[in-house]
Amino acid sequence: MTSSFLDKIREVSKQFFAFPMEEKQKYSREADSIEGYGNDMILSDHQTVDWTDRLYLTISPEDQRKIKFWPENPKDFRETLHEYTVKLQETNDFLLRAVARSLNLEESCFLDQYGEQPLVTARFNFYPPCPRPDRILGVKPHADASAVTFLLQDKEVEGLQFLKDNEWFRVPIIPHALLVNVGDQVEIMSNGIFKSPVHRVVTNTQRERNTLAVFCIPESDNEIKPADQLISETRPSLYKKVKDYVSIYFQYYQQGKRPIEAVKI
Ligand code: OGA
Ligand code: NI
Repeated sequence: MTSSFLDKIREVSKQFFAFPMEEKQKYSREADSIEGYGNDMILSDHQTVDWTDRLYLTISPEDQRKIKFWPENPKDFRETLHEYTVKLQETNDFLLRAVARSLNLEESCFLDQYGEQPLVTARFNFYPPCPRPDRILGVKPHADASAVTFLLQDKEVEGLQFLKDNEWFRVPIIPHALLVNVGDQVEIMSNGIFKSPVHRVVTNTQRERNTLAVFCIPESDNEIKPADQLISETRPSLYKKVKDYVSIYFQYYQQGKRPIEAVKI
C-alpha cells in the first residue's frame, strides 16, 4: 500500500468525525449493538467509560454489511474503506502463511481455520482531547478478540501502549507503517507461541487522535484450536477448541475478566 493511500484513509476518517453531530448521528448504533457510530457501550453500572467516539462496521462477508451505517460523506468514504480492507485481507493471508512457515508448519494451517467466510470488521476510533488524562483512558486495557488486528495509527499523536512484564510501553509513531497485533485467536491457534498482548490507549489534554483498527476473525461457525503439529507430550494443548470466540469474549469482558482465560486448559 502506498503512503498516499494510507493518508487518504486517515483523511476520510478525520473528515467523518469532523462533521457536525447531526450528520454523524445518521449512522448511530442501536443501544444494544456495537455496529454503527457511537460511544463506548455501557455494559455494567460499575464501568468507567472509554473516552472515545467510534464507528464500527462489518466489512466482510460482504452480504453481512449493514450499509445504512456506512457514511455517505465524505463522498469517497465507502470506496476507500472497501479498497483498504480488500488489501488488508490479502495482507492477512500473506502474514498468516509466513507465520506458519516460521514455525515449520504447513503454510495454510492457520488460514484453514478461518473457514470459507471469515469476518472482517473495522473500528474507527476518535479520541477527543480529555481534561483528565490522569483518570480516564481512551481505551481500557484489553487484548483483541481477533486473530489479527491491523492498526493504522494517527500520524502525529501517540496514545497506544502495550503491557509487558507489568510495565506499559509506548508505541512510537511510524507514519507509513501499519501496526500488526496478534489477537487472542492466533494465541489459541499457535498454542500460545504467539501471545495476544494487553494494550490500552491513554488520553491527552491537547490534541485529538484518530486511528483505524481492522480485525480479521475466523468464521464464527468454525472451530478453532491449537494446530496439531504444535501439540506434543512436552507441550500439551493449552487451549480448548472454541467456536464463536467473539461472543465468549464479550461475555467475559463485561465481567472484567480476560476472555482468553475462558478457553485455557
Ligand atoms: C482497538 C485498539 C488502539 C488505538 O481498537 O482495539 O486497541 O490506538 N485501538 O486506537
Ligand atoms: Ni485493541
